[in-house]
Amino acid sequence: MTMQTYLADAAGTADTAGTADATTPGPTDGLWHLRAAGVSLVLEVARSALPQILHWGADLGDLPADELDALRAAAVPPVASGTPDAPVPLTILPEQSAGWLGTPGVTGHRDGADFSTRFVVEQVRLVHDVERDGAPVAHRMTVDARDSEADLALRIEIEMLPGGLVRARGRLRNTGAAVFTVGSLDLALPLPREADEILDFTGRHLRERSPQRHDFVAGTHLRESRRARSHDGTLLMTAGRRGFGYRSGEVWGVHVAWSGNTRTFAEQGMPTGERLLGAGELLLAGEVRLSTGQAYESPWVYASYGDGLDELSHRFHTYLRSRPQHPGTPRKALVNVWEAVYFDHDLDRLTALADAAAAAGVERYVLDDGWFRGRRDDTAGLGDWTVDDDVWPEGLHPLADHVTGLGMELGLWFEPEMVNPDSDLARAHPEWILQTGNRMPPEARHQQVLDLAHTGAWEHVYGQIDAILAEYPIGFVKWDHNRDLVDAGHTATGGAGVHAQTHAAYRLLDALRAAHPHVEFESCAGGGGRADLGILERTERIWTSDCIDALERQTIEAGTGLLVPPEMLGSHIGSPTSHTTGRRHELSFRGATAFFGHLGIEWDLTAASEAERSEVARWVAAYRQHRDLLHHGRSVRTDDPDPALRVHGVVREGAGEAIFAVVQLTTGVWAPPGRVRLPGLDPDTTYDVRPLAPGDVVEPGHGEALPPWWSDGVRLSGRTLAGAGVQLPHQFPERSVLLHVTAV
Ligand code: DGJ
Repeated sequence: MTMQTYLADAAGTADTAGTADATTPGPTDGLWHLRAAGVSLVLEVARSALPQILHWGADLGDLPADELDALRAAAVPPVASGTPDAPVPLTILPEQSAGWLGTPGVTGHRDGADFSTRFVVEQVRLVHDVERDGAPVAHRMTVDARDSEADLALRIEIEMLPGGLVRARGRLRNTGAAVFTVGSLDLALPLPREADEILDFTGRHLRERSPQRHDFVAGTHLRESRRARSHDGTLLMTAGRRGFGYRSGEVWGVHVAWSGNTRTFAEQGMPTGERLLGAGELLLAGEVRLSTGQAYESPWVYASYGDGLDELSHRFHTYLRSRPQHPGTPRKALVNVWEAVYFDHDLDRLTALADAAAAAGVERYVLDDGWFRGRRDDTAGLGDWTVDDDVWPEGLHPLADHVTGLGMELGLWFEPEMVNPDSDLARAHPEWILQTGNRMPPEARHQQVLDLAHTGAWEHVYGQIDAILAEYPIGFVKWDHNRDLVDAGHTATGGAGVHAQTHAAYRLLDALRAAHPHVEFESCAGGGGRADLGILERTERIWTSDCIDALERQTIEAGTGLLVPPEMLGSHIGSPTSHTTGRRHELSFRGATAFFGHLGIEWDLTAASEAERSEVARWVAAYRQHRDLLHHGRSVRTDDPDPALRVHGVVREGAGEAIFAVVQLTTGVWAPPGRVRLPGLDPDTTYDVRPLAPGDVVEPGHGEALPPWWSDGVRLSGRTLAGAGVQLPHQFPERSVLLHVTAV
C-alpha cells in the first residue's frame, strides 16, 4: 500500500516536544499510536480511507516503528469468500463505498442523490498536551476529508484524554449548491473478538439504569432515545469478555454526550464478523438540512476501556473532574422540600422545615415546584415564572430571609423548557409550543414543550428566570424536564424540532450560567432522565431518580455512577416509608445510601421524632466530615459471589483511606455472609479497619454475635484485605454497615 504524506505537526497550536507517550507520526505516514493512562489507540489513516482504529484497549507499550508497521500488516484480514476483492476497512465512519455493509457512518441525500459517500483524506494533524474548554487533552487528531462527488467536506476529531478516555466527533459541511439532508452521523469503534457479552441499561421513571446482559450475536443491538430524555435509553453501551465484572474482565463502552435523541449500538457484521460499538445523535426525518456552506456537528461520542467496569468508570470520573467547571467546593448538604410538602406552600410550614434542616446541619434549602403563578397543582402555571402573589404576598423574601438567616443557601426549582396549556404564556403564544400540523402532541403531566427555537420563547424564559435570580439570593437551581418530546415540530417551518430544541436549551442554560456565575444547576428530568455528558458540561448535579427508596437506589446509583461521579449524584434521605414504593427502611440504611452521593434530605423533618432528627444530624455531620474523601476518591465495587450482598466504597487517591459500605440487599443463603474482600487499596500498606459511625449499628439477629474484631478494629494489609477479606456481621435484609479503612 502506498502511504501518502500527511501533515502531522502541532499546527502552531501546541507543544509537541516533551510528549513522552505518543508517536508522531508513525514509522510510515498514516500510522499513529496514542497512549494515556493504560490505554492505547492505534490509528491508520490512508488517503483513500477515513481513520481506521487498529487497536483500542490495553496499553501496548512504547511500540517501535517497525512493530507498529507490523501490527498494521498483522491486522489486515484475508479476503473472505463472497466479499469484495480487497479487505473492507472498518473506519471510524464506515462507508458502503468501501464495501462496508453494516451501519454506515454517514447517511443523507441531496434530493435523493449523493446518498453514499466516499471521502478522500486531505489532511491529518496531531497535537499533544492541549486544552479544550480549559480541560486537558493528551492527544488530538484532526482529519479533514472531502467527497468531491457528493460535494461534502468532513472533519473528524479524535481525542485521547489524560485519563485514557477517548472521544470523537464529526463535522459534515455541505460544499454543494443544493441542500443536503443529513440522516445520521454515527461514530464506530471496533471491538476485539473477546468482547462477546453486552451490558447496557434500561429503565423507566422511578427505576433508572436497570442493567441487562446478553450475548453479542450477529446483527445490531440498537438502543434509541426518541424522546429527548433517557429513562429507558442506555446511558452506556458496553461489551466485554464474558462475565466481566467491576474489578476484572476487559470491557469497552460508549456514551453519547447529548441531551436530545440518541442512538447507541453494538453490531456484529456478517460474513466477517467484525464487532463494533457505534453511537451518535438520532436525527428525525429532515431535521438537519444543510444549505451551501452550512455544517452539522455531531455530539462527542465518549469511549472508555477498562479491565473491569471500575476502571472504565474511573476514566469518565477522571475526565469530569479535570474540567475547570467541575464542582470543586464542598458539596453542600441540602434539604429539598418536594416530598415534604409537595404543592402545599405554606410559609409557616416551610420555615419550620428550614429550622429543622438547619438544626440538622443542612447547608442548602431547595424550594421545589409550586412557587410560581397559578401553580397550585401540576395542571397549570408552567411558563409563567413570576412568584405567585396569592401564596407569596411578599414574594419569596420572607422565606429567603429566613433561610439565609439560618446560614443556609436558597435553591429554587424551574422547568424552563415546559408550558402548561393552562398558563398565560400558552394562551398568548400557542405557536411557541412544539407541535406538528394542526394538532398538539398528547399532553403528559398536563404539559407541553415550549419551543425554545422561537427567539421570543427563549427570551421570555430567559428574562423571567434571570429576573428571579437577580431578585433573590439564589445559589442553586433545580432544572426539571418532566415530559418526553413527541410529535415535536417547529411551527415556523413544520419540520422536526428536537435537534434545535436541544441546542436552544443548552444556550439558555449557558446564558443563565454566564449571567449568574455563582449559581449551581441541577439537571433533573423526572429524576434521572437527563444524565448525559452534554448536560453535565453545564450542571453541577443530577437528580438521580424520583425514587428515593434506599434499596432501589443501590441499583440506580450503581448504574448511573458508572458515568457520573458521586459528587454529582443527587442522593437523598427520604421518609421512613418510601413515597414511590411503599417500602419502609431504617434511617441507618437510608443514611448510608445517601452518604455515597451528594447528600440531601427529602423528608418532612418537622414530622420526625427527636431521636430521628438527631440521627439525621449525625448522618449530615458524618457526610460533611468525610465528603472530601467521598467526592475526590476512586469509586470501587466488588464482584461479590453472593447476589444478596453488595460491597462498594471510595478509596482516597493515594490509597491512604477508604470508606466501604457492606449492603445486605436481601436475606442471604449464608449467614453470616463469610469473609468480604475490600479491593482498591495499596497492597503494601497496613490498614486499620473498623466500623464507621453512624453506619456502625448492627441489630443482632437470632442470638448472633458480632465478629470478634468489630469493637477494636483489625489491622491488615491492602493485599490481605483484597485477597482474603474480613468477616462481617450478619445483617437483616435492606440494611448496611460502613467500614472506615485508614492507613496505619
Ligand atoms: C419531578 C422531579 O423529579 C421531582 O423531584 C420534583 O421536582 C417534581 N418534578 C416537581 O414537579
